[in-house]
Amino acid sequence: MPTRGWFITIEGPEGSGKTTHAGRLLAYLEANGVRAIGTREPGGTALGEHIRDLLLESADRDHDPLADALLFSAARRQLVQEVIRPALLAGTTVVCARFADSTLAYQGYGSGLPLDDLRALERVATGGLKPDLTVLLDVPPEVGLRRKGPDDRTRFELAFDLDFHARVRDGFLALAAAEPRRFAVIDASTATGAVWEAVRAAADRLIASSEASGEPERAGERIQR
Ligand code: TMP
Repeated sequence: MPTRGWFITIEGPEGSGKTTHAGRLLAYLEANGVRAIGTREPGGTALGEHIRDLLLESADRDHDPLADALLFSAARRQLVQEVIRPALLAGTTVVCARFADSTLAYQGYGSGLPLDDLRALERVATGGLKPDLTVLLDVPPEVGLRRKGPDDRTRFELAFDLDFHARVRDGFLALAAAEPRRFAVIDASTATGAVWEAVRAAADRLIASSEASGEPERAGERIQR
């Protein structure tokens, strides 16, 4: 029986520090003997990076939200099939910056699409794959958006107002409240060092839970080949 990898996602509003902490987490896991790879959404594959450009760099700001959700889902499907599922099945842990919770938060809570429709789309795109741990870096939108430089801003930061981003933040918090075992909610408005300590503690709990229970039920064991 191969040992399965963990599937860890990092979520949060704009400017919450996902990229920084995903990189640190990857280095920390590797330093602790956990074989791991990092990836991101949308992106992480050739097709996904093309879709990312369409979604984030488009000068046409008037996208239909369901069209956006379908594009994010197409990129997700490719990433799951090409990168995440094979890695988990080979025993490699995957750290992914953003995943399906972002579609629920942005296109659901933010743009108002029905959550049930988005969950159905998620099931189709992911084949039911769920993260073992989701680190939610929580930050108020006015704080997160202020951290972004002018060259750093995507269509979502340029074309959507503060109310939209506030709904996204509240959406993430509602998702976390509904699944407290999967989510670690971390206040990301404080100094980076303190945030990292909390991320590390969440990773340590995941590692300890597998040691306590012998072989953990991991994402890789629930996914179909
Ligand atoms: P980021 O990778 O720099 O965070 O940019 C991704 C942007 O795309 C960000 O504004 C959030 C948005 N997004 C969605 O609206 N829905 C999704 O499903 C995903 C993955 C991202």
